[in-house]
Amino acid sequence: MASGKQERPNGAAEDWTIPQGWGSYSAVEHATWDRLFDRQAKLLPGRVAPEFLNGLDVLRMDRPGIPDFGELSDRLMKLTGWQVVAVPGLIPEEIFFDHLANRRFVSGNFIRAPEQLDYLQEPDVFHDIFGHVPLLAHPVFADYMQAYGRGGQRAAALGAIEKLARLYWYTVEFGLIRSGDDLRIYGAGIVSSHGETIFALDDPSPNRLGFDLRRVMRTKYRIDDYQQNYFVIDSFDDLLRQTLETDFGPVYAELATQPDIEIDTILPQDQVFTRGTQLYAREQLGSR
Ligand code: PHE
Ligand code: FE
Repeated sequence: MASGKQERPNGAAEDWTIPQGWGSYSAVEHATWDRLFDRQAKLLPGRVAPEFLNGLDVLRMDRPGIPDFGELSDRLMKLTGWQVVAVPGLIPEEIFFDHLANRRFVSGNFIRAPEQLDYLQEPDVFHDIFGHVPLLAHPVFADYMQAYGRGGQRAAALGAIEKLARLYWYTVEFGLIRSGDDLRIYGAGIVSSHGETIFALDDPSPNRLGFDLRRVMRTKYRIDDYQQNYFVIDSFDDLLRQTLETDFGPVYAELATQPDIEIDTILPQDQVFTRGTQLYAREQLGSR
């Protein structure tokens, strides 16, 4: 993931990549991956988009231990031309976009401590690899991620990163997708979280609204707890088509004149799958 300004650490290359250091993981670290993996592998069937499960399968991600990025990249390269490279946590936006635009997915190499199985601030290797990489084996989603990287370079030049970042948040990180009459999860932030995998689909608290590009780019989000709002796409093809066909330049100009939308607002024109009670969010905020 990307963030604002920071110094490139000693030992990182000019593109901010570092060696994964696969040989340095301890037995405890590999065991942490296995515990997280097993827990999600049990929970996800029937809840996640089938394309995700297919990705786990074709990338052989069910093998025990933290994956070796080199091996993973070899498989991914044959399937969709993507690679996985290690970086030291958060990196500058323009570096992040450049990697995506060149079909390189950046991942942290560290894993959370055993006592942090459910909650952590910074994305670790489980979030980055388990959450994001399976869908990179899907040709349409793979193209979407590259297009997003190119779009990021353009948004940076147009001063519109904040708007584009919301698109990433509400699709790549926290997206839902239709599957017949059902909803399924596909966003990496949900898929890599045991709690949110259940919350995003079953809890009466959050709103679940139909995806609308301009609406999404105007909607605020929270980074400290489960989402109050999820947006539902029809299909990956539809997501890619809409974002590719739309020239974001005029959209950014148009949105600059419109107010942001609060996290829990439902607009008259929204396609409502679920009108949330927002009870969970209210209880959380009340107890802080
Ligand atoms: N069409 C977008 C633009 O004009 C690029 C983009 C594609 C952004 C896909 C995000 C996802 O900038
Ligand atoms: Fe992520």
